[in-house]
Amino acid sequence: MIEVPEHLLARSRQRRVELTGEGDEASPTPAASGAPGPGAAPAAAPVPAAPVPAPAPAEPARPVPVAPYVEAARQRKKMPVWAASVMVFLPIWAIFYVGTLEPPASDELVLIENGSTVYSTCASCHGGDGGGSATGRQLNDGELLLTFPAGENFDGLAQHLSWVYLGTQGTRSLGFDTYGNPDRPDGARVVGSFANGMSGFANLDMEDLVSVVFYERVAHGGLDPERAALEEAMLLALATDSPTPETGSPVEFGELLAASAELHGVGAAEE
Ligand code: HEC
Repeated sequence: MIEVPEHLLARSRQRRVELTGEGDEASPTPAASGAPGPGAAPAAAPVPAAPVPAPAPAEPARPVPVAPYVEAARQRKKMPVWAASVMVFLPIWAIFYVGTLEPPASDELVLIENGSTVYSTCASCHGGDGGGSATGRQLNDGELLLTFPAGENFDGLAQHLSWVYLGTQGTRSLGFDTYGNPDRPDGARVVGSFANGMSGFANLDMEDLVSVVFYERVAHGGLDPERAALEEAMLLALATDSPTPETGSPVEFGELLAASAELHGVGAAEE
């Protein structure tokens, strides 16, 4: 079982404290439409790893209520049918689940379906099958996961979200010369190194952003089923919380992923 790295969890806890301190705004200000322009304050120089404050003495991991459809997604992919009945008899889990059971969302989010719809925006450059074109890089045949890997941690996933959110200009205006996996076998991707670059998609809401990213990772990247189930659960948790990114940097998306994963008991919190 892959776990959310402790340093991300520590940062996510800190972030949650910050957020809680500011009150629990149910309606965050809408993301700036379009990519953060070059005018946007070049907030961070090339990500110095944010110093992690001494983690508070590990508080015992409490089971956290999980949105029914997040739970459903997790059950569906990861658990053999016979195990579902076992879960029912885990008392704590059962109490929490029943206690938080709400009427199912009318528009239940299915990442892969929604993602294939959103991807129609991208297909003109990247090709319907991710084969690429003169105006957009190839995503299939392993290329996507070389740039945004499915590794031990969730850096690749966070970088992928950040890249689609920011695009060429937005990434550059945060001070990055490269994007994605710095150890890509043929060298890290250089920002603006292909055709006329790519616009950012900060205008997508969180549901559509995570959907199109998941769709690319599965349909073009060929994520293996177990990993896909885990990433799906994390992305659903993120869509449920639907935070508004401040800068959209890879580090920020990493923190947001970890915060939602912990809040919804995905990955590490689940043991
Ligand atoms: C106008 C054409 C165009 C459109 C539309 C477009 N892209 Fe891109 N995409 C590019 C270009 C060009 C690059 C390389 C950018 C660079 O070098 O700065 C790229 C790079 C990427 C990469 C990184 C690939 C790699 O391995 O380096 C991903 C992932 C990606 N785009 C996803 C998307 C998604 C998702 C959408 C739709 C929401 C989208 N793109 C829409 C042109 C486009």
